[in-house]
Amino acid sequence: MASVTFILRLTCSATETKMGDQMMPPMLAFDIYGTLIDTRAVITQLAQWLPNEAAQFVTLWREKQLEYSFRRGLMRSPCDFAVPTRDALDYCCDQLGCDLTETQRAQLMAHYARLPAFADAATGLAEAKARGFRLCAFSNGSQKTVTHLLRQAGLLPYFEQVVSVEVVGSFKPHPQVYQHVLTTMQVQAQDSWLISGNAFDVIGADQQGFHTAWIQRNPQQAFDVWRTDTGPVQPSLVRPGLEALAAHIGHYLDQQQP
Ligand code: 2OP
Repeated sequence: MASVTFILRLTCSATETKMGDQMMPPMLAFDIYGTLIDTRAVITQLAQWLPNEAAQFVTLWREKQLEYSFRRGLMRSPCDFAVPTRDALDYCCDQLGCDLTETQRAQLMAHYARLPAFADAATGLAEAKARGFRLCAFSNGSQKTVTHLLRQAGLLPYFEQVVSVEVVGSFKPHPQVYQHVLTTMQVQAQDSWLISGNAFDVIGADQQGFHTAWIQRNPQQAFDVWRTDTGPVQPSLVRPGLEALAAHIGHYLDQQQP
């Protein structure tokens, strides 16, 4: 009954956008890697070859992949997200002195293309869809890669669209990539949410006017300190996972009503 009440409230809410004759519910853009899809799951493959270095390797791989994507963006050097991913993999081998063969490296890249979803992903998406939100997947990964990844993880049916930054020719947190998702979904920033486990992504979207939810996958991880003229950036919501996220967004939006 409570959810029916909320759907009705959402349907009549002032947070809706008028698109032509239609009233549009808020749009939730879900980040993929580190939010819906568990990048650390590659550790099971790594541990077979590098039992001592696997944990350090998987952390460094992700950090370096993102750093390389930031640098590609700054250097205006567009490429598929698979390029910084593979470059970062080779860097980790050099840095940690891990002598992986070309075949093993190719297997790790293949593993990356079929990473599993976090255990709460399907439930969180189903709840958001049931409450009437519009959902899109929004990632640094190419359209083809992300579509395949979501399909094999069983998450693709939840989304209205898969939106990749690739057509912008840069990576998150370039302002244009957030504008691109708004344009694609035909929605205003104030009616949109970025849901991400990556603090840099939350900050990038916040600066473009989105509401934001930071999914704090690691309870030991502090949110980035990011000062602006109007004070430090804070996510609209912080949640430990995706379960009940939709209810919290609904509650937040209710509280914003005059
Ligand atoms: C994604 O765009 C940032 O890796 C993250 O999916």
